[in-house]
Amino acid sequence: MARKVLIYGGYGGIGSTTAGVLKSRGYALHLVGRNQDRLAGAASDLGAGFSAGDVTDGGLFSRVSEDCGEPLDGLVYAVGTINLRVLQRLTEDDFLNDFRVNAMGGAISELHALPRLGTAEEMASLTAFLLSPEADWITGQIISVDGGRSTLRPKG
Ligand SMILES: NC(=O)c1ccc[n+]([C@@H]2O[C@H](COP(=O)([O-])OP(=O)(O)OC[C@H]3O[C@@H](n4cnc5c(N)ncnc54)[C@H](OP(=O)(O)O)[C@@H]3O)[C@@H](O)[C@H]2O)c1
Repeated sequence: MARKVLIYGGYGGIGSTTAGVLKSRGYALHLVGRNQDRLAGAASDLGAGFSAGDVTDGGLFSRVSEDCGEPLDGLVYAVGTINLRVLQRLTEDDFLNDFRVNAMGGAISELHALPRLGTAEEMASLTAFLLSPEADWITGQIISVDGGRSTLRPKG
């Protein structure tokens, strides 16, 4: 069975290119975005499922889980906003909206930590990828290869 990946922002610039690359590698896809027509068009081109909604709507995530079904092999958060207004013209609402949309990716990733230890091969895979031409735009980063543990908040 094809590995299934959920892509938030699936018809945006980065999201749609990611969807195309993953489709060409045999993944089954489920796309999420706000505009029902654009979403349906993109999903139809890719043979993907889709759910329409706004990530600032708290009810979206459980609805997407139901629509998408289990098991899920990966999640891509390609939703983003960037407000290019000069600082003096930015309102508190602008800041809050950008924060909610962009920080939601971190909050979602916290739900997906894996209950096992990693292997040396899994570390080597990232090294091999970072050295490949596909990673040419990544430099000077510290990337956690830890099954999501570093995203977990201590309880209490
Ligand atoms: N690090 C880098 O080098 C780099 C380079 C390029 C871009 N970026 C950043 O990466 C992010 C994505 O870039 P992009 O070029 O793919 O942008 P994009 O084409 O504007 O796509 C963003 C997607 O996010 C969706 N979206 C925005 N707010 C949403 C919300 N509240 N709920 C659901 N979906 C929402 C948009 O849908 P709608 O059509 O409904 O708005 C759109 O599909 C941006 O934040 C950008 O600044 C970083």
